[in-house]
Parts: sequence; structure tokens; C-alpha cells
Amino acid sequence: MAGALKVAVIGVGQRGLQHVESLAQLQADEEVQIAALVDPYEENLAEEKIQSKAPSYKQGSTRLYSDVDEMIADAKPDAVWFVIPPNQHRGEIERVAGLGISIFAEKPQSLFYDEIKRQADAIDDAGIASTVGFQKRYDPWYTAIHDYMEGKQMSSVMTVSLGSVEGHGVKHTHTEEQGGPANRVWTANRAWSGTSIVEAGIHQTDQMRYWSRDDVEWVQASYVNRPDHLHDAQGDNPVAYTVIYGFKGGGIGNLIFTKPAKSYFNQRYEYIHTPESHVAFEDDLVVYSYSGSDYPPSDRPSVEQVRTVLAKGPEPSAMGPESTRDISRQFVRSIVEDNPDLRRNSFRSSMQSLAPVLAANVSDSLGGERVYIDEFENSDKYAQYRQRPAGL
Ligand SMILES: NC(=O)c1ccc[n+]([C@@H]2O[C@H](COP(=O)([O-])OP(=O)(O)OC[C@H]3O[C@@H](n4cnc5c(N)ncnc54)[C@H](O)[C@@H]3O)[C@@H](O)[C@H]2O)c1
Repeated sequence: MAGALKVAVIGVGQRGLQHVESLAQLQADEEVQIAALVDPYEENLAEEKIQSKAPSYKQGSTRLYSDVDEMIADAKPDAVWFVIPPNQHRGEIERVAGLGISIFAEKPQSLFYDEIKRQADAIDDAGIASTVGFQKRYDPWYTAIHDYMEGKQMSSVMTVSLGSVEGHGVKHTHTEEQGGPANRVWTANRAWSGTSIVEAGIHQTDQMRYWSRDDVEWVQASYVNRPDHLHDAQGDNPVAYTVIYGFKGGGIGNLIFTKPAKSYFNQRYEYIHTPESHVAFEDDLVVYSYSGSDYPPSDRPSVEQVRTVLAKGPEPSAMGPESTRDISRQFVRSIVEDNPDLRRNSFRSSMQSLAPVLAANVSDSLGGERVYIDEFENSDKYAQYRQRPAGL
């Protein structure tokens, strides 16, 4: 274990437990040593509870803390995983960065852009390694699209994500003691999640950027609010979201997100176009594009003539445990080998996925106004939307 990277997980809830499982597997491979876990609630640090979701974990020499700063001073980790609700940051990222400790931050890094800028500046000033939890970037199919798009222009990209209101009993923050939702389902609550587009749609936004190798220039959004009388039982996040992204390279992105209650239904539809091709998710990942030199051909080509397999099925789960383990393993190796190329994002670059979803909220609240990301980040016009609201 001597050369293993000393790591700590801050926040041992739904996602933290998945990171503990990944890191326990990396510990078995002697790539890391889980030096410490931090959570303000003692029950979340109990070995048996952790093992129910992270079966590879054994407490062993892992030390347990209720406070981040105490843990840092005592356990002196080389790298930490921040896995706490996005409205709960209180300068910890800045303080940890200032001590030269590498940072894996779960998305969304915070809900307040001014705070996110301070976090990013602290990370860059310290020159530490950082990454944000967009594990889809480590999925082989998504990477095949990223590779296919090299040197091509994205003309349109679409994600339809049909889900339902988040389930009960999966969250571990005692929100009821902190003025949050009584049922702990903070992802359905606007003050805690920033809306489902910020908390969850940020993944699809990042994937559009990863696939297209492009960044969002502007956003226009329109939401359908949940009726007031349903808020107590279902949270106050909107039921439906339509978000349009204009990309810097001229392409358009469409993100349709729905969260009705009681449906218990999940489905997705995704594609990406170049001016001369359509990438589709089928049993295999395929691209439709005619490559004959006689374009336009005299007869409409057969499906076989235009269909090329980019990656063989079955499709891996881009959100699943493999990509979660891979993003952590690559992060660890990038630090040990001092090789930033092993990381597929940084805290700073990931702000280009976070700013568009925060700006989508602004667009919706201004009646669908087109919000340019550069202006959202910098102009006085949007200053009030970048700040943490008083009292939160
Ligand atoms: N990448 C992904 O696929 C993915 C999936 C789920 C959640 N997430 C993200 O992970 C983060 C955590 O979400 P979750 O689902 O685990 O929530 P959760 O409520 O289940 O767990 C959060 C944990 O953090 C602890 N915590 C709160 N404040 C803390 C602090 N200051 N110091 C230490 N611990 C603290 C809580 O007690 C709780 O155990 C969120 O940002 C969420 O968006 C990412």
C-alpha cells in the first residue's frame, strides 16, 4: 500500500457510496488508500450501512470524521472527492485547494456562479489536479461518438430524457433538519437542486459538449411549473423543461426533460448530426451516411449501404458503475503519473457545462429570453442570478 494515493470521500450519501465502492475496488488493486470518510451524520459512516451499497468497503484503517477541515488537518489526504449537495458548500473547496490537495468535485459543483468562480480560481491558483463527476465521458459508446466527431461540424444534437419525480428513501442528507424538504428528496426541491436541469440535465449538457467537441454560446429555455398544491408531496421543481442551446460552431442542441410524478416511466432518445450524417443508438451504435463517390446516387441507397457500426452492442450504461470507477481510476492515475491528459475534464472546463444549465433557469425566469453564456458569467445584467440568495 506504500505508494498508493491517500484519498478521502466527503459526503457518504447516495453518490458518495458509489464512489466508496469504486475506491474500495481501487484500494484492492493497491492504487489508492481510503484514508478518511467525512459526513456530519454518524449513521452514514457506519461500516454495515456503507457495505449495504459498497460491498467492497472494509473500514480497516479508514478514519471517520464529521468535519472536513478537521479531517484535512488530521488525515492529510492527497486527493478528496466532494460528494455533498450542491447548495451545501461553505468554502471547503477553496480551503482544500489552497493546501495543494487534488479535487474530484461532483456535479453540479455549486448552484451559485460567483461561488463556482471562486472555487475554480482557488484550484487554478494552487495548480492542483481537478475533475468533475461527468462519468459519461468514460463510457466507450460516448467516447466513440467523441472520436467520430473529430474534425466534423455538429449541426444538431438532441436528448430527450423522460423520467419521473425522484424516488423516496435514496438520499442521506438530513434536509429536514436544515430547512429543506421533509422527505429528504432534495433533488425534487428547487432551492437544493437548482432545478432538474441543473442537477440532472447537466449530464446531458456535458455529453452534448463531449460528443460535439463544442461549447454552448447561448441558451433559451421554457419550463412548465408543477402545480402548487403538489409541492408538498412531489417537490417544487418543474414538471417539464425545454432547453435550446446554440453552440459556438453554429450547431443547435435540444434538451427535453420531463419529471411527472406517479409515472415511474423512463425513456430516452438521443442523436447527433453532422451536415452529412446521423449517429443513432440502436442495438449497436451506428452512423448513417452515404460514402459513395457518385453522390447523389441514381437510386436511393439501401440501409446496408449507409449504415456503419461505430461500436458493437449491447450498449454499456453510461451512468453505471464501470464509468464511475473509470473516472476515478483515471483521476488517480493522472495524479500519480502527473499526466493531465488522463483527465477528460477539469473543474474549470466543466464550468462550460454548468453555466448553460444555470443560464437556462435565468432564461426561463425571463420569459424565454436568449441568454448568452459570456454575459451570464460576466455582465451586471445577470449579477443577481449568480449570487447565493440571502439566508440560504
Ligand atoms: N455523477 C452522478 O451520476 C451523480 C449521481 C448522484 C448524485 N450526484 C451528485 O453528488 C452530490 C451528492 O448527492 P447524493 O445523491 O449523494 O446526496 P445525498 O443527500 O444522498 O448525500 C450527500 C451526503 O453528503 C453529506 N454532507 C452534507 N454536507 C456535508 C459536508 N459539509 N461535509 C461532509 N458531508 C456532507 C450528507 O450527510 C450526505 O450523507 C450532488 O452534487 C449530486 O448532484 C452525482
